Amino acid sequence: MDFNKTRYIPMSRRRRIYEGKAKVLYEGPEPGTLIQHFKDDATAFNAKKHQVIEGKGVLNNRISEYIFQHLNDIGVPTHFIRRLNMREQLIREVEIIPLEVVVRNVAAGSLSQRLGIEEGTQLPRSIIEFYYKNDQLNDPMVSEEHITAFGWATPQEIDDIMALAIRVNDFLSGLFLGIGIRLVDFKMECGRLFESDMMRIVVADEISPDSCRLWDVKSNEKLDKDRFRRDLGGLIEAYTDVAKRLGIMTENERPMGAGPVLVKG
Ligand code: TMP
Ligand code: ASP
Repeated sequence: MDFNKTRYIPMSRRRRIYEGKAKVLYEGPEPGTLIQHFKDDATAFNAKKHQVIEGKGVLNNRISEYIFQHLNDIGVPTHFIRRLNMREQLIREVEIIPLEVVVRNVAAGSLSQRLGIEEGTQLPRSIIEFYYKNDQLNDPMVSEEHITAFGWATPQEIDDIMALAIRVNDFLSGLFLGIGIRLVDFKMECGRLFESDMMRIVVADEISPDSCRLWDVKSNEKLDKDRFRRDLGGLIEAYTDVAKRLGIMTENERPMGAGPVLVKG
């Protein structure tokens, strides 16, 4: 299939497949594809806290594109095909596995709370945790026993997911360290991609400052969604800083899409 010749479907005629807290999925231009649209909504604590932060969706679309394209390039399979515009990307349709896969390198957030380990403590090794994706239950942490007993994933799929999680963690840790950022932890989601009579597990959803903890190496300043969760302010500035350090947002580019700019002749 030639995805470069995607035909344009006007917004009004697109079928909405699913709306989440920060993204909308639309029917894609070809069978087996979807369009993933990044909204400006920020939520925390299972949407008990909600705010629209203008420009966030544009930044996450770009940052997630950068990460997923590089994962594809190093042979880590993902659902990502290509970015379409400021807020949207073309993805492969997958069957989402109802787990949030969290990888931690440094103690923070719920791990620090649960086990009483001071935030910022380097962990003896990377730790992978699974949470059951269910808003009504507040995404509870689950073990491999629960996952296999309730049929959310098979033992083989859990092995595949963990192998992907380790590769993504190694890639992201190096990528961010190279631009002066410590990857404290992140969340990823996986999906089943069906191709002819084959099925494989791929990385899905998004990877962005919404789903990672990113601390400046020198100052420990938080460059992620904890700025919103903890009322620190400056979220757009922090996400823009991440994008600029990755080299994907030039100095003049504005994430806001605040309307036309007068070009001086
Ligand atoms: P936690 O410390 O709150 O468990 O979060 C661990 C990592 O997972 C952190 O980088 C934020 C991310 N995360 C999400 O992306 N979505 C969620 O719903 C939660 C709870 C965490
Ligand atoms: N719990 C998610 C977070 O804090 C967001 C949400 O559930 O509304 O990242």
